[in-house]
Amino acid sequence: MSDLADYYRDRATEYDAVYDKPERQEDLARLRALLPPLVAGRSVLEIAAGTGYWTTALSASAQSVLATDVNDETLAVARTRSYGPGEVRFHVADAYDLGAVPGRFDAIFAGFFWSHVPRADVRRFARALIDRVEPGGVVIFADNRYVEGSNHPITRTMPDGDTYQTRRLSDGRTFEVLKNFPSAEQFAADVAPGEVSWAELIYFWLATIS
Ligand SMILES: C[S@@+](CC[C@H](N)C(=O)[O-])C[C@H]1O[C@@H](n2cnc3c(N)ncnc32)[C@H](O)[C@@H]1O
Repeated sequence: MSDLADYYRDRATEYDAVYDKPERQEDLARLRALLPPLVAGRSVLEIAAGTGYWTTALSASAQSVLATDVNDETLAVARTRSYGPGEVRFHVADAYDLGAVPGRFDAIFAGFFWSHVPRADVRRFARALIDRVEPGGVVIFADNRYVEGSNHPITRTMPDGDTYQTRRLSDGRTFEVLKNFPSAEQFAADVAPGEVSWAELIYFWLATIS
């Protein structure tokens, strides 16, 4: 298990507080509304699904969602939510080893995980997802934009562009977490070739590769 996986395992029961931030409510509603049309009628593989917050939006229109995460602790929270009408199943899986995930998918969604992929790995990571989706399928990423005062401050920047934040859990433990904030141009360069559609809100971005 990576440090990142450990951090989110231990944060599982307090994770959803991030969706209570008052200043983000309007953007969250916008993002939730953008997702269902993109996956309508599709078989969706969700990467790093966490506590299932976005799974609820996907399942509103998808035929099915296989919600995966490396941590069963976050999926345990996800299992307590209501979904549908699309069928939702859960599966423990490493986002970097999708070959181990059974099934065929014509949409892949990764919410708030791109930011945790090291710069050195983003091309390979994107390629693996694009290669995994069926022809005619879509790969969708959503993630944070950096907004001073709403995000944790960046506490370290590496020469390759990776940026880190210091996060604290309710029990007082602190973790240094990789969190990158790509521009539209950087993202497009990282996933090329591929047709990228990019939507930018105040707090979030949404990218669709088709
Ligand atoms: C920022 S959270 C996003 C959760 C969810 N997608 C959301 O947006 O609410 C990152 C998630 O990635 C998961 N994770 C960390 N490393 C992973 C890996 N190698 N493979 C799959 N999931 C991983 C964590 O357990 C956590 O649930």
